[in-house]
Amino acid sequence: MIDPSYIKEILIPPDRLQQRVCELGAQISRDYAGQDLLLLAVLKGSVLFLSDLMRCITIPHAIDFMATSSYGASTESSGVVRILKDLDEPIEGRNVLIVEDIIDTGHTLDYLVRMLKARMPKTLRICTLLNKPGRREVDVPVDYIGFDIPNEFVLGYGLDYGELYRNLPYVAVLAPHVYGAKAEG
Ligand code: IMP
Ligand code: MG
Repeated sequence: MIDPSYIKEILIPPDRLQQRVCELGAQISRDYAGQDLLLLAVLKGSVLFLSDLMRCITIPHAIDFMATSSYGASTESSGVVRILKDLDEPIEGRNVLIVEDIIDTGHTLDYLVRMLKARMPKTLRICTLLNKPGRREVDVPVDYIGFDIPNEFVLGYGLDYGELYRNLPYVAVLAPHVYGAKAEG
């Protein structure tokens, strides 16, 4: 699946991912019991997380997708986000839970939250599988966090390196000798 020399270490093995994702699903099911719930997944990195999370959520819920990209060629997040694909339906009056793969600087989510709040959802919360607190440049209130991870580039379980390796069943740290190229989405 991947040249083993590309991987420095496996940070989160499949069984820990499944266990934690199902804990999050159970918590979300309790928190939104008896209420409307729309999971808003940010493409593409969150698709594996979303599909596992949904199966651990025991209450009725809908899903919708949005795709974003940072403006410009810089690997550093500029805070300006381009919407590549918008939601199919309005979110006014709905309980929206954003499902993200990873929060790094926080710029992408900060922009998304401000944009989505203007559409008047009833509630807007954030669920991220991975969180890099040491890289945060903008404060974003995160309601559900799978794992806090160190400041290293990770791939697998939806996260890409140059659009590849999203299919790895674990989250791994990219080896330093391949680090440097950028990955997005
Ligand atoms: P932020 O705006 O800096 O928070 O950027 C978040 C986005 O950058 C994520 O949704 C990912 O697409 C991407 N990203 C940040 N860190 C990583 C990483 O370690 N591996 C893969 N993608 C990453
Ligand atoms: Mg992403």
